[in-house]
Amino acid sequence: MRPRVLVTLGIFPELLAQLRTQFEVEDNQTDRVLSPAELVRRLGDKDGALITGYDRIDASLLETCPRLKAACNLAVGYNNMDLPACTAHGVIATNTPDVLNDTTADLAFALLLAAARRITEAERWLRAGHWEGWRNDQMLGQDVHHATLGIVGMGQIGRAIARRAHGFDMRIIYHNRGRAPVELERALGARRVELDELLGTADFVCLALPYSPETHHLIDARRLGLMKANAILVNVGRGGLVDDAALVEALRTRRIAGAGLDVYEGEPALHAGFLALDNVALTPHIGSATRATRMQMGAVAAENLTAALSGRRPPNLLNPEVWEHRRR
Ligand code: GLV
Repeated sequence: MRPRVLVTLGIFPELLAQLRTQFEVEDNQTDRVLSPAELVRRLGDKDGALITGYDRIDASLLETCPRLKAACNLAVGYNNMDLPACTAHGVIATNTPDVLNDTTADLAFALLLAAARRITEAERWLRAGHWEGWRNDQMLGQDVHHATLGIVGMGQIGRAIARRAHGFDMRIIYHNRGRAPVELERALGARRVELDELLGTADFVCLALPYSPETHHLIDARRLGLMKANAILVNVGRGGLVDDAALVEALRTRRIAGAGLDVYEGEPALHAGFLALDNVALTPHIGSATRATRMQMGAVAAENLTAALSGRRPPNLLNPEVWEHRRR
């Protein structure tokens, strides 16, 4: 019998058709996020799952899924998966790195520019019929070129953001656990600094790091208080990196000048305070949302699933211990 697979989200029809050639597939083309109870119910008799970052794979779920061998995220971030629990239950966990680096960096730059040049605010104002002609002091924003960009998280996405910033003649500082390759630092003129120094120096702060219990509320009221009054915060990492209530307050009181956000605490709900503010550009978690990139992410996730269910090591294995264990 062919392996049974649950696809928890709507995917491109051609990818679904491809999966159906190998697996018995239960799909969810409605795109409605499955409730935890529904996930438990639908995953109970499956061998594999293609999932989104909203599907929580943890010990309590895994206990009810004795057949499950692989959980494959259609996302690079994997904070929805408890990796030690996956390993303990012999479940392979995978993600889709690399293919979305440039697309996500493009969005980070779009948000940075939108917040700096008040693009979304200006468009709302224009659409509302307020424009009466060119004025010297109309919608004054901030220069991006030659400003200082602080990148928090210098992984592949952070580096792609840095390359774009270099093209804008920005000064680049970054904070990361490890140091980026010296050649990269040299090529981009990038300098590694401590987080608090970065926050006190940068005109633009861009978050491009994963969420974990250690990075929960990395940017809280204290750290927002370190930022320059003209500073703009961009988050393309994950909701939860920023204390959104504290950010709303910092934006409302103009403690910082603005923000560009693609991810939120508790999304798809977001703090109502953001909606009342003009100095924040908001997008609905679309960092990797181009057709070409989502096609590639789908192909990568499918390859991980196929490999995992046919006894091959998946290319993007997140818990290698599970593999060693299987091979012993
Ligand atoms: C999207 O947020 C991802 O992690 O790929």
